[in-house]
Amino acid sequence: MTTPHEMHPDEWIDPYEKIMMVLGVLMLTGMMGTLLVAAFAFGIQVPSPEKQVNPNTISEQGPFSEPGLRDLGGGKYEAYIIGQIWSWNPREIRVPAGSTVTFFITSKDVQHGFLLWHKNLNAQIVPGQVSKYTITFDEPGEYPYLCHEYCGIGHHTMSGVVIVE
Ligand code: CUA
Repeated sequence: MTTPHEMHPDEWIDPYEKIMMVLGVLMLTGMMGTLLVAAFAFGIQVPSPEKQVNPNTISEQGPFSEPGLRDLGGGKYEAYIIGQIWSWNPREIRVPAGSTVTFFITSKDVQHGFLLWHKNLNAQIVPGQVSKYTITFDEPGEYPYLCHEYCGIGHHTMSGVVIVE
């Protein structure tokens, strides 16, 4: 039997353990790389609640009491959107090409999902939380938004559209 003192440093770690260690580090590096590529190359944002609201009173007070578009000037807009069973309020938003729209989206009742076609906006819409995303619309056209979280019998009717003129 050899003691650690007599062993060559290469033999201190079992060969299989060494393989697993190398694989482990490779996997961690690969996953970290995937995260970095998603964050910086594809611009994927981790959903972060902008702020909290009381779903029971959003229709009476605060910015969601008048859902829709606000013109901030200089091609910048804010859109306040409420998800509720089973529609988006508002169902249509019109902006000129080149506009930058910051979306504030929340739900009045159950969890919904907000997916904006042709754009990098795909968010879970949770009652009580406001989700905030900023999107620039350079190309004229129609950008439908729809609910992609099953929210009940009328789920498939929850759609709207951003019209860029
Ligand atoms: Cu709202 Cu599905």
